[in-house]
Amino acid sequence: MFDIPEDVHYINCAYMSPLMNHLEGIARDVISDQKYPHKVGITDFFEPSLALKQHFARLIRIDDPERIAIIPSVSYGIANVISNIEMSEGQNIVIASEQFPSNVYPWMHLCDINKGELRQIERPKDDKTWSQAIIDRIDNNTTAVAMGHVHWADGYKFDLPRIAKAARDHGALVIIDGTQSVGALDFPIEEVQPDALICAGYKWLMGPYSIGVAYYGPYFDDKEPIEHNWINRKDSDVFQHLINYQPIYRPAANRYSVGETSNFILTPILSAAIEQLNTWTVSEIQLYCSDLIANYVGKWRDMGYSINSGEAFSAHLFGIRLPEGADSISLKPLLEKHNVFVSFRGDAIRVAPNVYNDHRDMDALTNALQEFVNS
Ligand SMILES: Cc1ncc(COP(=O)(O)O)c(C=O)c1O
Repeated sequence: MFDIPEDVHYINCAYMSPLMNHLEGIARDVISDQKYPHKVGITDFFEPSLALKQHFARLIRIDDPERIAIIPSVSYGIANVISNIEMSEGQNIVIASEQFPSNVYPWMHLCDINKGELRQIERPKDDKTWSQAIIDRIDNNTTAVAMGHVHWADGYKFDLPRIAKAARDHGALVIIDGTQSVGALDFPIEEVQPDALICAGYKWLMGPYSIGVAYYGPYFDDKEPIEHNWINRKDSDVFQHLINYQPIYRPAANRYSVGETSNFILTPILSAAIEQLNTWTVSEIQLYCSDLIANYVGKWRDMGYSINSGEAFSAHLFGIRLPEGADSISLKPLLEKHNVFVSFRGDAIRVAPNVYNDHRDMDALTNALQEFVNS
């Protein structure tokens, strides 16, 4: 289903997913449809978007596809969040340290304009877990807790159900960036009860770049979107009457979809990608990744590398920290020599396998890591 060359060991879905072969066919078809606008009907503006929302709703196990908005980026999805948050001087936002910037800059801005405090919680050096350190900093002045299910740089898996409960107990909103987990790691939506769950589409959802999806919960139902577009309004499918300006939005999260949300090219591709994930199921994908790496993690540890363990470990995305005192500069050419594609993030290499990887990829990575410690 994928076209990655045999000798390429691409273990980097956290960077960008390869597009499945059958999606290329869909992409060709939808581009060629653009040559014949006389065939584009009103339903083409709505039905493919609804299908995408339905597939994503099924993926995250919610009943109502109207709770899903189509967004171009995570920063867009979070912008809709922060423009609807009231914060006063002295209140705080809790995030994990070194988060991806799209889930940091908006909160910096919100705190700046309201004289609030942005609490970036460091990974503790003592025995306390990172999740507990986050919970300890949530208090009655916390307006929102905003983080991922796993840390994007080394895959540290947070105890979101507990963190979210602590947030709710203090009346804080729970805003989750699911970009590096949803699609490959089960999202416990009933336990977390997020107020928003925002995902870029081009990583674990296996879609194209520049389209994503976001769930917005009841808190956002009657709030203001950052843009005021027409297609999100009630009766926008009656093109003849569009100038009967309509103050009422379509239900639930529809108001937060980006303008030109029908996106005739990207929408069907992401939709078909998520449909395929639903066929495989997220739990099987995670299981595939854990089976794939099961025999390797011990070997890497024996070589002197360190890897998150226990509940903080997630098999689809994990960091391999280099042995004490080692300098990653000389690892890069070795990975290149073995044609291994992973990312360097902070002091770890980030390994992110998915269903298209097999033991040959893990062997190539292991050989490069072995040569590095031998050198
Ligand atoms: C955790 C996380 N969130 C979001 C993004 C992408 O954000 P945006 O869609 O705003 O470019 C990335 C990209 O690497 C990411 O790792």
